[in-house]
Amino acid sequence: MSEPTKLKKIAVLTSGGDAPGMNACIRAVVRTAICQQIDVIGVYQGFQGLKEGLFCPLELGSVANIIQRGGTFLKTGRCPDFVKPAFRKLCWEKLVEHNVQGLVVIGGDGSLTGAEIFAREFNFLTVGIPGTIDNDIAGTDYTIGFDTAVNTALDAIDKIRDTAASHDRLFIIEVMGRESGYIALEVGLAGGAEDIFIPEAPAALDTAIQRIQRGIQRGKKSSILITAEGQKPGRAYDLAEAIRKKTGFEAKVCVLGHIQRGGSPTARDRNLASRLGAAAVRTLLGNHSAQMVGIQNNQEVMVPIAQVIKAKNPLNLQLLQLVRDLSI
Ligand code: F6P
Repeated sequence: MSEPTKLKKIAVLTSGGDAPGMNACIRAVVRTAICQQIDVIGVYQGFQGLKEGLFCPLELGSVANIIQRGGTFLKTGRCPDFVKPAFRKLCWEKLVEHNVQGLVVIGGDGSLTGAEIFAREFNFLTVGIPGTIDNDIAGTDYTIGFDTAVNTALDAIDKIRDTAASHDRLFIIEVMGRESGYIALEVGLAGGAEDIFIPEAPAALDTAIQRIQRGIQRGKKSSILITAEGQKPGRAYDLAEAIRKKTGFEAKVCVLGHIQRGGSPTARDRNLASRLGAAAVRTLLGNHSAQMVGIQNNQEVMVPIAQVIKAKNPLNLQLLQLVRDLSI
């Protein structure tokens, strides 16, 4: 552990896809830092804004009345140019020019990877906070935004169940998760789905069809299948077509899409965001760089980002079996 530095000024940015709770997290970073006599600047538009110097000083009042708001008031974006060393150098120069000594990056795996490279390359004090609805980040039990996204999707699934039951229909509901089935698994279990299709487990269309047919034979009138979007949103339409070809069943499709990224964060997400925002400032104050703060067994932890990005956050695939067992 190195000697604590006297930090005078830090910057905070949000990067990648937005996630409900990011505002609560920025609030916690700002207020914890100010309590420690550290100035904070907000960087608009993620790493792109860092390069362009889109900075604004954040005071206690700048983050008033945002704890309940979805999205991120600092705005966010994916920044493919950050892979370029020349681009990263311009980002570093902007921070040095504004006398910034520490950086907090709130985002998903791509953003954390960027933060780690940046910290190493310029020996710049940098800490990451896992913010993504996908919950696919190792080293933390939960990411900011996951709980809200799950509850948003579940609310939609419950509504679809009403109409599915009224019309005796089969529905395929597509939830977000390009490379991760966390949302699909969580809502599939909570929503009583017949089966779930996720990137982590090989799709077994025939088994799902057998399950639906068994259900029909014993009098089931409506069914719900959940799929994670996978690499390409719209996967649910391919599934519906495959089912139609094999069985003649007409499945209705509902792609929930970006509705899952918005909305007021749940209490769980606000509290996680507040705890991790404060922990990030403590981590910088302790002079720990290239670390991610996360939550494990309800304790705030610090994990090297290098370790986080190498590992996969494993899904509990036993839950997939449970979904199937309970939908007999
Ligand atoms: O990473 C979060 C996420 O919402 C994924 O679940 C989804 O695949 C992706 O972002 C969508 O990204 P975009 O909004 O850039 O299309």
